[in-house]
Amino acid sequence: MTDPLHTELLEIAQEAARRAGALLRDGRPADLAVAATKSSPIDVVTEMDIAAEKLITGLIAERRPDDGVLGEEGAATEGTSGVRWVIDPLDGTVNYLYGLPTWAVSIAAEQDGETVVGVVTAPMRAETFHAVLGGGAWATGAWDGERRLACRPAPSLDQALVSTGFNYVAEVRAHQAEVARRLIPRLRDIRRGGSAAVDLCDVAAGRLDGYYERGLHPWDLAAGDLIAREAGALTGGRPGERPSGDLAIAGTPGVFEPLQRLLEDFGAWHD
Ligand code: IPD
Ligand code: CA
Ligand code: CA
Repeated sequence: MTDPLHTELLEIAQEAARRAGALLRDGRPADLAVAATKSSPIDVVTEMDIAAEKLITGLIAERRPDDGVLGEEGAATEGTSGVRWVIDPLDGTVNYLYGLPTWAVSIAAEQDGETVVGVVTAPMRAETFHAVLGGGAWATGAWDGERRLACRPAPSLDQALVSTGFNYVAEVRAHQAEVARRLIPRLRDIRRGGSAAVDLCDVAAGRLDGYYERGLHPWDLAAGDLIAREAGALTGGRPGERPSGDLAIAGTPGVFEPLQRLLEDFGAWHD
């Protein structure tokens, strides 16, 4: 039976994601500009990232004022309830800035440090993914209603379609490009979608066999990682570790382990 707290957190996450997604989709100014930069000149923030985070944190504060919050655009409160929200108000900002459709709102809720709820909505795909710990992963689309997600039956690694991402810091990107150069001949192909949250949901939906990236933050990962696991994917970091900023890997069973081994051999982690 589902824990009533988890049901409450899921409903809040779904409402916040729906409202922020609509704001981002319908409120995108035609002349959208970069408002600020962060880790490097190509790591950009727009007024819409900030507006979406404000909407989400405002709704959470109204419904559950004692919860902690960690948001990419600066929200950081401790809370006293044992619940913490981990929010990427706009994952895929560069795609959004250019008018490409692959971007998402990602909202996770942790209870005592463990992710128990994850919601990722991708408005330009008219698709929302969600998972509650132990309750499976689900997608709701405009055309096909709600369906339970199951990751793809494993192909051999040389038949696997694997997505990745590149960090905003030039030296990290150069290292990542070198790892990808060594990996490509061992796979079917590589994709670079531009939203870590969507990549993880695509592993859950069986549209990718695997995904890996170095340099992610908790808000990129939290919701998508739970959704991928609840769809039967394996996730981790370096061998024996949980996914983290050092390295995050997700894959269908059968792809995850050989991919993790190759990434270890190629030194894909943060050093
Ligand atoms: C980025 C996206 C991208 C990934 C970067 C992330 P942002 O998030 O998820 O796919 O490669 O590492 O920082 O900046 O668009 O929220
Ligand atoms: Ca992000
Ligand atoms: Ca973001």
